[in-house]
Amino acid sequence: MTKNELKELLNSLTLEEKIGQMFQALPHIFGEQGAITGIFDEKIEVDDLISVVGSILNMYDTERMKNLQKQHLEKSKIPLIFMNDIIHGFNTIFPISPALASTFDAELIKETARITAKEVAPFGVNATYSPMVDISRDARWGRVCEGYGEDTYLSSVCAKAMVEGYQGDDLSADDTIAACVKHFALYGAPYDGRDYNNVDMSERMMRNDYLPPYKAAVDAKVAMIMTSFNTINGVPATINKHTNIDILRNEWGFDGVSITDYGSGKACYSAGVTESHAETAALLIENKVDIDMMSGVYGMKHLGKAIKNGDVSVEQIDDCVMRILDLKNKLGLFEDPYRYFKGSAVIPEAERAKHRAVARKTVSEGSTLLKNDDKLLPIKKDAKVAFIGPFVYENDLTTHWSQIHGEREIGLNVKEAVETFGELTGEYSYSVGCPYINMNEAYEDKPNDPCNGEYEKYEAEAIKNAENADVVVMLMGEPSVFFGESRSRTDITIPQVQMELLKKIHAVNKNIAVILFNGRPLVLTELSEMAKSIIDVWYPGSQGYLGICDMLFGYTSPSGRLPFCFPRKSGQVPLYYSNILTGHDNYEGQFSKYTLRYIDTLNTPLYPFGFGLSYTDFEYSNLRISSDKLTKDGTITVSVDIENKGERSESETVQLYIKDERAKLVSRPTKELKGFKRVFIKAGEKKTVSFEINEPMLRFYDKDCNFVSEKGKFHAFVAPHSYYEKSVEFELI
Ligand code: GLC
Repeated sequence: MTKNELKELLNSLTLEEKIGQMFQALPHIFGEQGAITGIFDEKIEVDDLISVVGSILNMYDTERMKNLQKQHLEKSKIPLIFMNDIIHGFNTIFPISPALASTFDAELIKETARITAKEVAPFGVNATYSPMVDISRDARWGRVCEGYGEDTYLSSVCAKAMVEGYQGDDLSADDTIAACVKHFALYGAPYDGRDYNNVDMSERMMRNDYLPPYKAAVDAKVAMIMTSFNTINGVPATINKHTNIDILRNEWGFDGVSITDYGSGKACYSAGVTESHAETAALLIENKVDIDMMSGVYGMKHLGKAIKNGDVSVEQIDDCVMRILDLKNKLGLFEDPYRYFKGSAVIPEAERAKHRAVARKTVSEGSTLLKNDDKLLPIKKDAKVAFIGPFVYENDLTTHWSQIHGEREIGLNVKEAVETFGELTGEYSYSVGCPYINMNEAYEDKPNDPCNGEYEKYEAEAIKNAENADVVVMLMGEPSVFFGESRSRTDITIPQVQMELLKKIHAVNKNIAVILFNGRPLVLTELSEMAKSIIDVWYPGSQGYLGICDMLFGYTSPSGRLPFCFPRKSGQVPLYYSNILTGHDNYEGQFSKYTLRYIDTLNTPLYPFGFGLSYTDFEYSNLRISSDKLTKDGTITVSVDIENKGERSESETVQLYIKDERAKLVSRPTKELKGFKRVFIKAGEKKTVSFEINEPMLRFYDKDCNFVSEKGKFHAFVAPHSYYEKSVEFELI
């Protein structure tokens, strides 16, 4: 449709039809099934909108979705949009977002989103509530598992890659879907790590650290944005005009669709911020929030009342509805409302196999080798290996968001995966050894008990298998019910029952490699003292164990780099590498008084942001810069030589950090990531890796929140991780 035709359509609508477009319904109000992803009370007052609803969330039966569209179009001239949480894959499930970030590979990340869109579009879903780009530096928070880490630059790169992957160049194409960046804004910074809690943050910190990833999505033409549950300095993000209007609409020029998070339209009243849902509705309209997700605040009862009271004009309604119609038009739904119901069978098996191959490759690229003493890994193909731990019989490494939709592939368990490697001639035992958690602990969501209560039997079997093995591979970590929405933790350690088993195994065999499954940074201090090798695989998706075996037996290498700092103790969080300078900075470690420190642990992370080992050794040398003077319009180049000193040709992720030594009246971070490159270096080869530096890279929000650069001294680090100290100086003149 042309813009004029859309305008005519808009003008032809009744007020109910217009308001209907602004209401996103749970399928349940039509008697249909769908995922419930929040509190759902049956009394949503929207009966008057049933025939004019604009969109549906989280339905997962494509035939029933198609029928619902048919029924709907018997009464309405405007097709429904179907939206789902498709966060890291659809049929093929990729590793969770922190693992995707760990790849530091924008092209690969984009490819995973591209494959996801190809798989989900013919299923009937037109839009996904992804990417989630909330910066988080507090691993107590349950939703760290959905984002791309602590760093502004890395998360911004991931945001762009995901939006471009989902949306392609043409939203009306059969294999693209609309993306929805979330949760706007600052949802990842609850002041105490508890989900949904308030965010108190200075304008400067907001603009320097937390807002850029959302802006990267907006600059990548993201079709939608979702407001977040949290309040920002006391004002709910859903009705926060500073973020929604001043920044998003006016400064950034976002002209897409804004949608509330699940039920948060009504949360304004329950947060004591408005006197009525009608008042909330009026505030939402003022914030140009176009769609209310399921709460019913955009119903005739509340929004209709706000219009009747004169608090909302029909012009304001038209403004919101036009953006919704524009999105439907871009998706091509007016031309063919059934274009996205071709069915997943349109993807030939050969194509699916390629998707699985990408997912399998992503497991290795997104896994991080944290330790590898005595080069215990990779394991020889004829070795005797004891696989031990509660994840031994686990075959679903896809986590919560994958379980709420369609036709996801689950994957193999470790035994089934090992048996696909015909050339392995070793002996392999598989023993659970212990449950995920002490099943007597009072969690409302508990993982299953792979020991069925027979703990002594399973432990004895594991110890016996360990005694006779050349290598023990411990499959352990955080059960998936320990992270995700409303699942914050005070103690970010591996469940004690698993650590007890590790101690008993360590008593009989020191050759231990740990495969760590996690949804957040965990405290690995005690584990690192007992394991010779550790690979952090996060939750690696439906190709998980095949990818893990690829790495264990050396067919591939773990080449990820951490997107978070991992603390030594839970009490260290919030923890991030780019802490601002304090004037009391502590470089001597724990025992220097009157400095920034804890007295009961070292000030540094156990493993820093950007850290990751390889199956070979890389040596950095000859750091140099083309000039120590940078002019406003100029460019200088910083380079380093990297030699592969081992026998295996491997990838190295080289990172550029820049430190602004001082600025007018504000402290600047110890350093900030400004670029990265994955380089493949053959065994014995030496390569030069260079980065260009220019003045825009040095800009920041100053004391008065002006986005500026200041003349003065800077340090450039070309580094293997964020705690690498060699730098070269230059001056902006
Ligand atoms: C949930 C989440 C949000 C999700 C939405 C729809 O509560 O906060 O990330 O997209 O509801 O399921």
